[in-house]
Amino acid sequence: MRSLISILDFSVEELDSLISTAKDIIAHPDAYWDRCAHKKLATLFFEPSTRTRLSFEAAMLELGGSVIGFSQASSSSASKGESMADTAKILSCYADIMAIRHPREGAPYVAAKAASIPVINAGDGGHNHPTQTLADLLTISREMGRLQDLTIGLCGDLKYGRTVHSLIEAMSRYTGIRFVLISPEELELPGYITENVLDKENIPYQVCRSLEEALPQLDVLYMTRIQQERFDDLETYERLKNSYVLNVEKMKLAKQNMCVLHPLPRVNEISVLVDDDPRAAYFRQALNGKYMRMALILKLLEEAKNPVKAAETKDNWVYDRICTNPKCICKIEQELPQAAKLTEQGVYRCVYCEQEV
Ligand code: NCD
Repeated sequence: MRSLISILDFSVEELDSLISTAKDIIAHPDAYWDRCAHKKLATLFFEPSTRTRLSFEAAMLELGGSVIGFSQASSSSASKGESMADTAKILSCYADIMAIRHPREGAPYVAAKAASIPVINAGDGGHNHPTQTLADLLTISREMGRLQDLTIGLCGDLKYGRTVHSLIEAMSRYTGIRFVLISPEELELPGYITENVLDKENIPYQVCRSLEEALPQLDVLYMTRIQQERFDDLETYERLKNSYVLNVEKMKLAKQNMCVLHPLPRVNEISVLVDDDPRAAYFRQALNGKYMRMALILKLLEEAKNPVKAAETKDNWVYDRICTNPKCICKIEQELPQAAKLTEQGVYRCVYCEQEV
């Protein structure tokens, strides 16, 4: 059964094809109004969400399908201790496809292993957020006219910002991409992105502490919120929360055709006065998220008609290393085996959350 857990589950050709479908939906919405008639999407949101959950729901409704689900963990049996795997098996009885957001890293992966319908990762802890990346790709394609030969600045919380991780994984596979990583030292990218993606693929990148210094060279600026809910101590959050604020003055340093993205919600990272700048693309980006989720639902439901058995991936798994990430799904679900695999860089990483073990 085909699912979307990491953006790396899709080839570049598949990403390009989703973008083409989304553009076709924008051009000919009437051709899609009943494409998912009698199909149900389940939205399992164990964490707050406005855009992701509601754009998934709007996407399914605009395809003629219907939606079931919950928007907080407290209204599901997870609050009684039901496991992710059992929840996924149950939802497989009631829906045709499901989208899961969970504070635990690796939870949608565990669900996909247990489910008999496609599972979409709608954000797992500070790990991945592949459908936000789909929105980002369509936005960059529409705003810049290309996905190649771009200098992309990522600014803010690069450590816990799951949208950043998935976006780097996706953009690294297009040619001529360069990243400028703008963050405080404490919020730099995790090792599974720098080692497994940037270093492995020889992608040029520059680490920078100053937004002003980075701005003049950027084609795309991706602003992010400092992820308060992922911090262990509030004091560090308070110290870092206003590290970067994009305002009208700073926008003067940017190229005339740069575009500004933000997965939203914003807290204080972008002054509302920037919203009137034609380069501010973040509200268009939120709309693009609905079109890409429509394209994704169509693709996964189509593939589910002829499910291909996934290749066995446990060949290089080892079971003698304990994951130390307190936010990993394996820390609360007792029946999950502690499993790690060896990466090409010679590092063992947890199969659920990718932390080095
Ligand atoms: C992001 C998320 O939830 O990871 N928002 C989103 O899905 N559009 C970013 C964030 O919460 O800061």
